[in-house]
Amino acid sequence: MQQILAIETSCDETAAAVIEKNGRNVRILSSVVASQIDLHKKFGGVYPEIASRAHSEKIIPVVEEALNKIKPDVIAVTTGPGLIGSLLIGVNFAKTLAYTTKKPIIGINHWLGHIYSNWAKKPFPKFPALILIVSGGHTGLVLMKSHKDIVPLGETLDDAAGEAFDKVAKLLGLGYPGGPMISKAAIGGDNLKFAFPRSMLDRKDHNFSFSGLKTAVLYATKKIGKMSLKTKKDIAASFQQAVCDILVGKTIQAAYEFRPKSICLCGGVSANKELREQMGKEVGRLPWKTSFHVPPMELTTDNAAMIGIAAAYHLDQKTTFDNINANANLKL
Ligand code: KG4
Ligand code: ZN
Repeated sequence: MQQILAIETSCDETAAAVIEKNGRNVRILSSVVASQIDLHKKFGGVYPEIASRAHSEKIIPVVEEALNKIKPDVIAVTTGPGLIGSLLIGVNFAKTLAYTTKKPIIGINHWLGHIYSNWAKKPFPKFPALILIVSGGHTGLVLMKSHKDIVPLGETLDDAAGEAFDKVAKLLGLGYPGGPMISKAAIGGDNLKFAFPRSMLDRKDHNFSFSGLKTAVLYATKKIGKMSLKTKKDIAASFQQAVCDILVGKTIQAAYEFRPKSICLCGGVSANKELREQMGKEVGRLPWKTSFHVPPMELTTDNAAMIGIAAAYHLDQKTTFDNINANANLKL
């Protein structure tokens, strides 16, 4: 049995968790997330300097609360991608802990962490699994043939899906973070009212693009000028539907090519109810047996439990503190 302390500080959440690996069983013993949303709200997005400062204030209390007197066997930390000033707080804290306690340490890619949020509860996805990562910093499709064989199929050529939600929410004056605000505003809105573009659906590759959609919303809001609540709701609903059509369309297209046994969602945008429902429905229509997986709600946005679960499946990557470095542009 091994207990893993996981630390995540890549963006605007200071998070720590303890994961227990017992044979094939992986269990979350604790998961603590200190959100900085209130600090960044007034800027309409994450303000990097403020994020690093808040991480350095929160890291010790958050880790202490997650540990609750447990002495972990292994330390896992997100090494990238993310904001370098934010990553450095978690990475240096984890390295110092590994150095002083002489424990092994594992560096985890943030996207790998999001993928493993699908291994938080049974039934686990079966291989090959097709995984759609949709967050504020990344949107892409990944084919996972085994825990050791993970192939990125394509990614966004411009904005991430979550970024589009955040920018459109700002345009509509709905506040930050945009995803939950848009999905709330979309309730009761007419998702057919505005014909926003569905980029890349006519292409065979597995890449995404959301900048055209964002610009289309910008032009629509400029044309309307002062808008009623009803119009705002219609724009939110039409935008959300365009994002869902792109994400579901590209995932199903890739599914026909790779015939996965499981299809999984992960990342902040996978909290979106419409996306969960519409993707689930289309996966159910595939002409072969495919299971559909979504992470528990609390593991969709950034957290350390997913980093610890990823580490539990990659314990062979244990190393010493001097081999771990933060990398803002780390690739999967
Ligand atoms: O995974 P995450 O916490 O951070 C990154 O790794 O980027 O994702 C945050 C993103 C934000 O852009 C936020 O607007 C979006 O996830 N998000 C949502 C919802 N909840 C969070 N997007 C759509 N619908 C939601 N319910
Ligand atoms: Zn994330």
